[in-house]
This record gives sequence, structure tokens and C-alpha cells, in this order.
Amino acid sequence: MLTQIKDITETIAPRLIEIRRHIHAHPELSGQEYQTAAYVAGVLSSCGIHVQEAVGKTGVVGELKGTQEDNRILAIRTDMDALPIQEKTKVDFASRKPGIMHACGHDVHTTLGLGTAMVLSQLGKSLPGKIRFLFQPAEEIAQGASWMVQDGAMRDVSAIFGVHVFPSIPARCVGIRYGALTAAADDLEIYIQGESGHGARPHEATDAIWIAAQVITTLQQAISRTQNPLRPIVLTIGQISGGMAPNVIADQVRLAGTVRSLHPQTHANLPQWIENIVANLCQTYGATYKINYRRGVPGVQNDPVLTQILEEASREAWGNDCVQIIPEPSLGAEDFAIYLEQAPGSMFRLGVGKPEKPNHPLHHPEFEVDESAISTGVVTLAYAAYKYWHNS
Ligand code: NI
Repeated sequence: MLTQIKDITETIAPRLIEIRRHIHAHPELSGQEYQTAAYVAGVLSSCGIHVQEAVGKTGVVGELKGTQEDNRILAIRTDMDALPIQEKTKVDFASRKPGIMHACGHDVHTTLGLGTAMVLSQLGKSLPGKIRFLFQPAEEIAQGASWMVQDGAMRDVSAIFGVHVFPSIPARCVGIRYGALTAAADDLEIYIQGESGHGARPHEATDAIWIAAQVITTLQQAISRTQNPLRPIVLTIGQISGGMAPNVIADQVRLAGTVRSLHPQTHANLPQWIENIVANLCQTYGATYKINYRRGVPGVQNDPVLTQILEEASREAWGNDCVQIIPEPSLGAEDFAIYLEQAPGSMFRLGVGKPEKPNHPLHHPEFEVDESAISTGVVTLAYAAYKYWHNS
């Protein structure tokens, strides 16, 4: 079966590169993936796959029926949105839209979804159950997966695979990770309300800037002294505003930031832990506060059985030298985690690093991929899908 999958992929490889370049040249921002979605739907229909459009606003779902001897449904998820970045690569298929670029490789992901659909649609009787292809919008704003789930894209799904390109892994190789792959990411906003006064008479005022400084410092120190160091937290205050004049004590300060964590229990306790610290400081110094804590996405926890299927598929297809077991999770966020609330799944990293340096990071205006990775990704996904039915 592996040989057959590799042969079909090799035959369609030029077409896949064409597809990827088309999508790359026509990027669309999160939630506005209308043309991409229509294009995806067209390609899926042309391989005889049942297509549903406008799932999760601008998402697309394709379903391959298989022989239906097995009632499990395997989902394969890819994302389609681009970023508000002005492309600075010199490729001749560079973005034709000023200020919008596929700088996170979602053009490659969409192509992988389509390529896998093309390959699996040719395998006919080898697929005993259904495969559902999810082409989601708005991953960059961490909303698309929720939209897809709300519209029933995960209904009856038994397992899900996902993939993200990774420039620090060389093309033709893949990265596999057991357990935590990405972090939970929440948004934090704190308002501190003090009382204004003359800069020379601090005893007659409540200095919101000084209390904000205490809040930031205490939060950072408390992470190191009150939290389990083996369950990391990163708390970054990226915005601070307040005050009116150099000689006037500020009455209000707004702090805003992001909170990342890996352990589910730590994640669950974070809002209360932060509130206790802020409340105690504000009470001590006579201020009041308001906290807006918004849950973003949970962490991606890869399922051991499905991860093993991905690992075995990759080792058989590419040899041990091209399969990396990723040693550490990332504190980045990925809304693939939303699907994992519905069914177990696993996400792998697809190497897109070029042999010639430099390989710019994701979200960089000169980010480029080695397109040979497309075939690697398609074979890995298609073969893992095959093994899902035949191993477990
Ligand atoms: Ni991405």
C-alpha cells in the first residue's frame, strides 16, 4: 500500500505544486477565505468527494465514504487562512494581495489536505470507513476550529490528524511528538483603579502606576515561587497604558497580556491564582481592580495510539533518519486543540527547511518552504490514514 500511495503522490506532485502556488499567490485573511474555500471545494468535487461548503463560516468539509464496513470516521484537518504581512520573498508566485501573505504555511496545509484527498480517493476498497477532510478558516485568530465544531464538522468523528509545517526541520523529514505539543493560551486584561493626585503629594493619592508595577513584578516572582516549575507558565504583559502627565499621579492603568501553560490543571487554576495576587496587592495599597480573563485555546495533547500510527507510518515511509521525536513542547498555541475536545487526535510537524540557508521562521515576511515537503506530507497523511483502519 505504501508503494501505491507513493506512486499516486508522485504522479500528482506537479499538480500539487501548482495548487500550492495558486493558493500562495491568492492569500485571504482569517474569516475571509471565500475564494480559497471555493477553490478547495472545486478540487474536492473533481475527485468525486462529497463537499459541504460554508461549514464554520468559510470552512469546507469533504467526505470520502469508503466501503463502510467500519463505522468509524477519521478526520484530517488543515487550515486555510493567511496573515496580515507584506510578503518580501522573491518567488514568482508571491502574494498578489498587498499586505496579506501565507507566512505560516497554511497554503501548504490546504494543499496537503487536497493532495491526501486526491490520493485516498483513488484507493477505493482499501478504506473501510469514512474520511472527513476539514479545511478550516481563521486558525490565526484561534476561532476557526470552534466555528467548525459548532457547525457539526466533528460529529461522529473517532480520531483526527493534523499537521503544521516547520522550517527548522529539513524538508522530507517529519517531527512526531507524544503528549503536549502546544500550550494553552489565554488573554489577560487587568484594570487598576487608584486615585489621581499631585505628583508631589503621593500620600493624598493612590498611584495606579506603582501598583501596576507591583502587580507585574509579583506575578512574575510568584510563578517562580508558588508554581510547580515542572509545569511551566509564561505570563507576558505586552501592553501597559495609563497616566496623563509626568507630574500627575495616575488613577488608572490597563495591563494586557497573554498567559501560556502546558499542564491542564495549571491551566484550570490560572484565573483564580492571578486574581488572588491582584486582589491582595490592590487591597493592600487601596486600589480597586477589574480582570478580564479570556480563555483562548487549550493545549494540544497528542493521543499516544494515534501518535504511534503517525510515527510508524513516517518511519516506514521515510526511514528512521528522517523521523524526529520532538523533545519539547512549544509554548505557541494551535486551535487544533479545540477538535481534541471532541475526539482523540495527533498533530505532526512537517519539515519544510531548505538545504540553503537562511530558513526564516513562521510569520516572517521572507518565509519560504521547500516544496518537496508537499509530497512528504501527503504520503505521511495518506499512509497514516490507511494504517488507522488497518492497525487499530
Ligand atoms: Ni499556522
